[in-house]
This record gives sequence, structure tokens and C-alpha cells, in this order.
Amino acid sequence: MTTTMLDLSQFQSSGAETCFHGRHLGAQIYDGLDGRNWRLADYVARGGYQALRKVLTGHDGAGPMTPEQVIAEVKASCLRGRGGAGFPTGLKWSFMPRQFPGQKYLVCNSDEGEPGTCKDRDILMFNPHIVIEGMAIAAHAMGISVGYNYIHGEIFEAYDRFEEALEEARAGGYLGNDILGSGFNFQLHAAHGFGAYICGEETALLESLEGKKGQPRFKPPFPASYGLYGKPTTINNTETFAAVPWIIRNGGEAYLAIGKPNNGGTKIFSVVGDVQRPGNYEIPMGTPFSKLLELAGGVRAGRQLKAVIPGGSSAPVLTAQVMMDTTMDYDAIAKAGSMLGSGAVIVMDDSRCMVASLLRLSYFYMHESCGQCTPCREGTGWLWRVVERIEHGQGRMEDIELLDSVANDILGRTICALGDAAAMPVRAMIKNFRDEFVHHIEHKRCLVGPGAAHAPSAAASHRGSEQTEAQGA
Ligand SMILES: Cc1cc2nc3c(=O)[nH]c(=O)nc-3n(C[C@H](O)[C@H](O)[C@H](O)COP(=O)(O)O)c2cc1C
Ligand code: SF4
Repeated sequence: MTTTMLDLSQFQSSGAETCFHGRHLGAQIYDGLDGRNWRLADYVARGGYQALRKVLTGHDGAGPMTPEQVIAEVKASCLRGRGGAGFPTGLKWSFMPRQFPGQKYLVCNSDEGEPGTCKDRDILMFNPHIVIEGMAIAAHAMGISVGYNYIHGEIFEAYDRFEEALEEARAGGYLGNDILGSGFNFQLHAAHGFGAYICGEETALLESLEGKKGQPRFKPPFPASYGLYGKPTTINNTETFAAVPWIIRNGGEAYLAIGKPNNGGTKIFSVVGDVQRPGNYEIPMGTPFSKLLELAGGVRAGRQLKAVIPGGSSAPVLTAQVMMDTTMDYDAIAKAGSMLGSGAVIVMDDSRCMVASLLRLSYFYMHESCGQCTPCREGTGWLWRVVERIEHGQGRMEDIELLDSVANDILGRTICALGDAAAMPVRAMIKNFRDEFVHHIEHKRCLVGPGAAHAPSAAASHRGSEQTEAQGA
């Protein structure tokens, strides 16, 4: 990644540029961040906790907002869950049985394990109070008094940072009992995850939070009726909660106006892969992909854009041509044949072999399957083994149909969506880049390599590294 004027090594161990490049468009969540100004006093100076104050104690002569008013604003904003499925947040909040007499829970999903995605950890590191404020507002709207933020098990700095921010918020009167003198109580805790991709699936996360093996539950019942410890629970992604303070301060209509109908506000995209400036970019929903690519510096020098996985590794790959005609929002990406998912935009240039890329993805899903359902447990292994033999020159022509058929047998037949996530990339790779699979089988070597129009050395070394990674993983 490229460097900025700041010495980022003070703030995170990688020293890599992530969100301090100043190339966001209309940023709401990353606005004004420099890596140092994450503390409570900085957040309050940026207008932080005004939304919570507006909800609990009133604002500009108006009285406190009722829970129904808060949910109505979130519905009007067309905020859609940023964790992957894009489910309307206001609608999800309205499913919580507010009058349930026992304990109810609010959970933030900061597991962020989808390959390519690295936006939530930046929010936790550099703007943690925005998540706390969003959660406190959500808790009030749903009549919840206890919440947890489940943070991915391998990002210790983000966990420690969030803990520090929690301490500040408690001391400042924004968490705990009688928040801002309103009589509202909300206890929020950080919880350490266990580093498995499947623990990001909401019901596996709940199992893990309860101290059990992180394996998904059958749905229904959904968490709104049977969640943490069997009690009504609402789960949202970190970025979803982080969007809430802006909506409450400025109104749902204003948030919607920034994006596109049915796709309100801004979205953070983790642009990774073959671009000049990988990093997190916050832009309005509906921004053309070509603009996002430009912000990320375009593809590597001397290379052409070949393909893009627009929503994390589970999303079907799209060709360059389709992407260049597409805008970055849930509906447009779905229309183009893929998913916005977690917002990780994996850019691939013309040095990338699609068979080798699929081999890496298939290995990941085989490795991460929790093993509960047969189609996923066995099917992900089948997919990997067939792609592996094609990649290594031992494929048969019927393997292409076999891949499609195994993927079909997984789709829709599993407890959770990891099965679909493993199957969809396979079908999309074959649909869009069939010629590369055929070439591998017929010629026992890569189309993107010696004898092709591309530079042999780059492609060969790429293939070598992909193979080593997949075999050694
Ligand atoms: C295998 C798998 C992994 C997931 N990982 C995450 C994750 O890391 N973070 C996340 O917010 N959602 C993840 N999800 C989606 C969650 O199950 C859930 O839909 C989401 O947290 C709801 O929040 P939202 O409505 O704000 O998007 C994952 C889903 C699946 C099937
Ligand atoms: S689909 Fe895969 S990851 Fe999900 S429950 Fe079944 S075996 Fe586990």
C-alpha cells in the first residue's frame, strides 16, 4: 500500500494505509479521522453523542424521541445492513418484541472474516465511539439493556481500543445506568471472538458468545425471537451501527438522499487486489465503479482490468466490462449478477489466472466449513479437489460440468449461507471464464502464461505463488 504523511506505525502494527488517504466522497463514518483523534473528547468535538442526546433528552426545544420515532427515521433512511445480506435495518429493529418481559440483547458483529474485507477494524480503531453511540441508540429504540460487541479473534489492537473507548463512554455518562440523566440503562461489553470465519454468521456468533463451538443454528427461529441465551436478540454489523448517529442527527430522508432509492447513505468499500492504492474508501451508494477504481489509483501499471469480485470472496465474480457499467449499490450489483456483500472489492488484472484464483477460494471455503451439513462439508472438498486437478494439468473436460453439478447440489441445501458462498464463486468463474478452464484441461497449462499474449514471467510467478499458498495453507 502507499504511504501518507502520517507515520501510521504508531497506530497499528501493519503501518499500512487504510482510511487516512483523504480520497473519500462525502464521508460520514471516516470523516475527519487522522488516526490520533479516536478518543471521547475528539469524538464529542466532531459532534459525537449529539444524536444520543437528541434521542434521550431532546434537542432544539423538541422533547426526547420515542423508540417508534427512532425506528421510523432508520426505516426512512433505507439503511441496509452492511454485514453482507443488505437487510433493511429499520425493518429488522421493528421485529424485536419490545414488550418481551425478560432480558433482550443487542449484538454488534465485528467478526469481519470475509476475505478482502477490512473496514470494520478501521472503524473500531479510529472511530470506536461512533459504534458505541449507534448501539446505545439502537438499544433504546428496541428496549434493550445489555449489548455485546463480538470482535474478531485476531485483531487484538481493535479489541483493546474498543475496551478503552467503552471505559471513556462509561465515565462520560454515555453508557451504564441513567445515561445522560434520562433514566435509560445500557450496559455494553466487548467480547473476544475466536478467529473463525464461520463465527461471523449471526447464529454461529451467538453460539460462540455463549461459550460454545461456533456452529450455525437452524433458522427459524430467528435471533429476534430466539437469540443469545435463547432470548430476543438483534444483531447488526459494525458499519451498520456506525451509520446510525448521522441518520438521527440529520434525518432519515437526508441519509437516503445521499445514496440511491432503496440504498441510502454512504458505504465503505475495501478495495483490494491489483490496484495502485488498496484501502478503505467511503463513497455514496450509487457511485459508479469506475470512480471507485479511480480513487484507488486504477489497476497496476501496464495492466488491464480483467475481473472484479464486488462484495467479498462469497460474491460471484463479474467481468471488467460489466463492472465498468455498474454503480456500487445493492440493487445495481444484484442486477449485474453478483452481490454487494460485505463491500470488499477484489480487483483482478489480466495477469490473474481464474483457475488459480478459484483454487485459492475453494481451499478457503473447504477449510472454513464447520462440517455440520453434508452438502457443505463434502461438497466444498469436492470443489477444491476438482479445481486442483484442473489447475495442475490433470483435469478432464467433464470436470467443468462436474464442478457445476457439485455447486448446484450445495446451493440452498445447507443450514447457513456458507454453502452458497462456496458454490456461487465456482459457477460464476465457469460462466464468465470458461475458456480458461477449457485451456487448462486441453493444454495442461495456463491461458494466462507462456504462449499467451501476457507476460510469461508475471503470470508464471503468480501461478507459482498461488499454488504454494493453497498447498501450504
Ligand atoms: C459464513 C458467513 C460469515 C459472515 N460473516 C460476517 C461478518 O464477519 N460480519 C458481519 O457483520 N456479518 C457477517 N455475516 C452476516 C451475518 O450473518 C448477519 O447477516 C449480519 O451480521 C447482520 O448484520 P446487518 O443486518 O447489519 O448486515 C456472515 C454470514 C455468513 C453466512
Ligand atoms: S453450510 Fe457449511 S458452514 Fe454452514 S452450517 Fe452447514 S456445514 Fe456449517
